[in-house]
Amino acid sequence: MGEAYTRGSLVCVGTGLNLGGQITVLSKSYIELADVVFSLVPDAFALQWLESMNHDVRSLHRYYAQGEEIKSRRDTYQQMVEAILAEVRAGKRVVCALYGHPGVFACVSHIAIRHAREEGFEAKMEPGISAEACLWADVGIDPGQSGHQSFEASQFMFYCHTPDPSTHLLLWQIAIAGEHTLTKFHTNSDCLRVLVEQLSEWYPLDHEVILYEAPNLPTQAPRIERLLLKALPDARLTPITTLLIPPAMPLKVNHKILAKLGISEEHMG
Ligand SMILES: C[S@@+](CC[C@H](N)C(=O)[O-])C[C@H]1O[C@@H](n2cnc3c(N)ncnc32)[C@H](O)[C@@H]1O
Repeated sequence: MGEAYTRGSLVCVGTGLNLGGQITVLSKSYIELADVVFSLVPDAFALQWLESMNHDVRSLHRYYAQGEEIKSRRDTYQQMVEAILAEVRAGKRVVCALYGHPGVFACVSHIAIRHAREEGFEAKMEPGISAEACLWADVGIDPGQSGHQSFEASQFMFYCHTPDPSTHLLLWQIAIAGEHTLTKFHTNSDCLRVLVEQLSEWYPLDHEVILYEAPNLPTQAPRIERLLLKALPDARLTPITTLLIPPAMPLKVNHKILAKLGISEEHMG
């Protein structure tokens, strides 16, 4: 047996959002052939579906705070990475199956792959269908039309990001916007008021924004709820809500660059 079979390895795969239908053929086959599959998927149906493909599926949900426990998500992620690496070090073919795209707004896969490689193991990521990919399809937007920006909502608040109001802006994890302790799983209206005030530097308070939730089951419809920016503090937000802020102004022509290229505005594509 070659070394590839005796040494541990890690592949992080994405399962998509919608149960069973959004996984790539390659990722599915990695799951089927793995010795151990660690998983973070939206619900028990998705877990059962993974279990139908592999007999050793271990949910990583157990590392999140349970019941009244107060636990930093930093510790949770570290424990998840350790659990994954322990099996890689034990010589197993390990798969980490995360919902959506395994490396989009998801740190565990990136950290685990980095550590595994540092320790000399083969480790890689297979792409998956992310919440954002579903959003463009369900809401009917081509992000290439005006461009788009994506931020984690709390990071957007804590750092000096500058949104371009002529593009689409996505704020991920809006339900924990401004949650700095890494121990809570929800924000509050006061934090959201601060975010709205911050956004009002670039967007009118009457600008229409969208709360988006991709379906996790084929029987569900997407949540596409339109509301005014100023109504955000009172909106119902869940752990799977993504906020989409459509452009508030047309694209601005860059006359300086056009002049350098010798292009006149009417000849632009
Ligand atoms: C930790 S990130 C994981 C993203 C995931 N890796 C992906 O590729 O979509 C969690 C955030 O993703 C977004 N998200 C997750 N599930 C979603 C869904 N069903 N619909 C819309 N957004 C979702 C939300 O912004 C949520 O707070």
